[in-house]
Amino acid sequence: MTDFNQKRIILGITGGIAAYKAAELTRQLIKAGAMIRVIMTEAATHFIAPATFQALSNQTVWTDLWDTRIQNTMAHIELSRDSDAIIVAPASADFIAKIAHGLANDLLTTTCLARTCPLFLAPAMNRQMWEHPATQRNVSQVQNDGAVLLGPEEGEQACGETGLGRMLGPDAIFEDLASSLSPKLLRGIKILLTAGPTYEAIDDVRGITNSSSGKMGYELAKACVAAGAAVTLISGPTSLEPPRHSRTIAVTSASEMHEQVLAETPSNDIFISVAAVADYRPANQQQGKIRKSSKKMILELVPTKDILTEVASSPNPPWCVGFAAESGDILAKAQEKLGRKHLPLIIANSTSAIKAADNEVTLIDAQSAHKLPRMDKTSLARQIVAEIAKRYHSRNTRSD
Ligand SMILES: Cc1cc2nc3c(=O)[nH]c(=O)nc-3n(C[C@H](O)[C@H](O)[C@H](O)COP(=O)(O)O)c2cc1C
Repeated sequence: MTDFNQKRIILGITGGIAAYKAAELTRQLIKAGAMIRVIMTEAATHFIAPATFQALSNQTVWTDLWDTRIQNTMAHIELSRDSDAIIVAPASADFIAKIAHGLANDLLTTTCLARTCPLFLAPAMNRQMWEHPATQRNVSQVQNDGAVLLGPEEGEQACGETGLGRMLGPDAIFEDLASSLSPKLLRGIKILLTAGPTYEAIDDVRGITNSSSGKMGYELAKACVAAGAAVTLISGPTSLEPPRHSRTIAVTSASEMHEQVLAETPSNDIFISVAAVADYRPANQQQGKIRKSSKKMILELVPTKDILTEVASSPNPPWCVGFAAESGDILAKAQEKLGRKHLPLIIANSTSAIKAADNEVTLIDAQSAHKLPRMDKTSLARQIVAEIAKRYHSRNTRSD
């Protein structure tokens, strides 16, 4: 289940080139379980046809203030009353100006004025239009009136210029919207996470790593942000985009991760150790590239430091959550790790989850083992975060 399940969302589309990105946003919201009703301005219909949104949302698209489909012809009241949120993407300079002044001369502006639910705006315009004092005044006004701005971002624009004013991509809007609608279970809590593999150099071009994609840790970082936490993510090498609205520190080796984690530990309330940290590293890193020869080569490995054990046994430690990726008797091995490292919570999963898009985990603490069903890592991360929040907030009434 996602934060959008059964949520009724109005997607407003105004006249800008970025209107095409709203099609992908509609698809993502529908896939996440939202019920989408699309309202387009007249200008928006010049950029993309209503039929696209009708097909994607499975609902007729609203374009006309004078639509007689609703019995009393007050579509603006009817549509806004039973909605959980309105997102206008793209929000044109013209549209922002209108709502800043309370104008209501089409269905979208009238619905926004009549709303009782949160309003999100994803501006999209040429950088000079965005920077113009009139637009900036209007943006401040709509924010003061309670609208939440998602973006814009810097980048290449349709007009060929580069600068601030580009609409956020559908993924980013989706994520920010999900965050805004999520219950703030960890509001104000500082959370440190590790994610990804580590890379232990053998020589200048070769090394030992593992197949961790970093996906579980990154999704947990995003879910913590959505729950209102201040997140620091220390990540080994991955191909993933750093999670939005969190501080990401990139490291390579287990010893770099160890150093960064210990430096960050005192300023965090919770530590979630998700990274697949190397247990061993080469005793010596060779300079340059080792030349091939016909002789047998023996690589000496030495153990790395156990980051989680050190954090958990530090003076005044954060509330620690470990991950145990095991094969064989996963639960017994995770339970042993929980006791040995003196952790309040450990999350057991199979080593087969390391590269996969979905996962199945069991949360083990001193009292119980709680299994969560197999699901995609994004949904799973949200459920794990809800479980962590529950346990963290009741930690003083429990024995852990
Ligand atoms: C080709 C073209 C592209 C445009 N792109 C944008 C844009 O990206 N952002 C914007 O604010 N206005 C843009 N405009 C101007 C708006 O379409 C115009 O202000 C329109 O009145 C907006 O109407 P609406 O706010 O009711 O949708 C563009 C106009 C044209 C002709």
